[in-house]
Amino acid sequence: MTDKLKLLTPATLILDDKSYSLPTYMGVEGEKAIDITKLRSQTGYVTLDDGYGNTGACESAITYIDGEKGILRYRGYPIEELAAHSRFVEVSYLLLYGELPNSEQLLKFSTRLNESSIIHEDVHHFFNGFPRGSHPMGILATMVASLSTFYPLPDRLDAETEVQIVANLVSQVRTIAAFSYKKSIGEPLVYPSIKYKYTGNFLNMMFSSPVRDYQLDPDIVRAIDMLLILHADHEQNCSTSSVRTAGSSMANVYAVITAGIAALWGPRHGGANQEVIKMLEQIHAEGGDGTEFINQAKDKNSGRRLMGFGHRVYKNFDPRAQVLKEHCDKLLNKPGINDPLLDIARRLEEIALKDDYFISRKLYPNVDFYSGLILRAAGIPTNMFTVLFAIGRMPGWLAHWREMIHGEQVTIYRPRQIYVGETLRHYQDIKERV
Ligand code: CMC
Repeated sequence: MTDKLKLLTPATLILDDKSYSLPTYMGVEGEKAIDITKLRSQTGYVTLDDGYGNTGACESAITYIDGEKGILRYRGYPIEELAAHSRFVEVSYLLLYGELPNSEQLLKFSTRLNESSIIHEDVHHFFNGFPRGSHPMGILATMVASLSTFYPLPDRLDAETEVQIVANLVSQVRTIAAFSYKKSIGEPLVYPSIKYKYTGNFLNMMFSSPVRDYQLDPDIVRAIDMLLILHADHEQNCSTSSVRTAGSSMANVYAVITAGIAALWGPRHGGANQEVIKMLEQIHAEGGDGTEFINQAKDKNSGRRLMGFGHRVYKNFDPRAQVLKEHCDKLLNKPGINDPLLDIARRLEEIALKDDYFISRKLYPNVDFYSGLILRAAGIPTNMFTVLFAIGRMPGWLAHWREMIHGEQVTIYRPRQIYVGETLRHYQDIKERV
């Protein structure tokens, strides 16, 4: 335990007529926890917490969330202030190194990112091996894991190598993402350029071609940059926990980040932004107003959920969704952009927010409800949405990896289970089996 935790009055646990005293602690924002690290050795019991909803797996100084009040802060700074005033590269530095950079630090960091943006030329061959139509998340996971073979790590990480790994991953994730898109549409790769800043560079790699220059639209660059900021960290979510789990074995960091990408892909996590658009397109194609879809989402037997609604932690509102909603309205009202899916999204939101099913379960629009609409307005194809989430989440994953490996001790993640399978039985020869 660090000295940031305040020791409170111990909790008393009575089990099998015996009494145990369990230490309790309070974090700097008043969150309270019962320390059960000695529970099994003292009592023989473990805790049962499916999905870890009540388990604090670590101490962390990176991101603070209060799901009831709709608060999200990176290193103490409210997400609303960062979204309004900062840029993704600055926020990445903040998450990774704990403080907002001064001008000199920011210039050094941006320059390092720019200089690290080119991936090893031999990596390009891998892109040719993927079948046409491969999902870009599959390509991203494979390519990030492959970086471990191109940038071998020393047995002991020194400070300079660590800074370079971070720069490689934060910078190259966007190059890999753009290359995988170019491959999927059969166009030549566009290299990163020193002329552009982080987000503009990515959009240029995605959309320019030898026969067509891409004109950066400052409103779109700003909207995508903000979207990356809003996705940059979210404490112990499914993908970040996967990064910490894989990282706790002291595995190679490129492999560790690949674990995060794999977890992010699922439709209940980062894959939800893609699912929201699929849902809106389906409603549009069927010509309905969404009522029918909502009725199906309320019926457990339908296997459907209202995508972009609900959150494990936010039970009041998702502050990221509020920032994005405002931006989404502004961007989608720009002349020349007219997306019929926005009206369907507004209508769905209106119906769901008045519906007792959603109200009683505290299901509100989450960040992914709006992010897909912004990405569509920017011309990003739907199957790239989760990749954009991964670009945004990269500094968060790396900040957690750094926090873990620099902690007082790295304890390997190894939960217990309650076994409910067959009890002891003995091997039968195949001829005797029915
Ligand atoms: N549509 C319909 N019903 C829902 C939904 C939904 N989107 N989300 C939860 N429910 C119901 C669920 O059926 C359950 O009902 P009951 O109490 O009658 O059994 C109740 O609400 C609680 O659901 P849960 O699955 O126990 O809640 P959770 O906190 O474990 O799940 C969630 C959170 C995000 C996985 C879930 O709300 C969901 O699947 N939402 C849709 C997918 C989505 O938008 N995901 C993006 C999350 S934001 C991006 C990120 O941070 O990853």
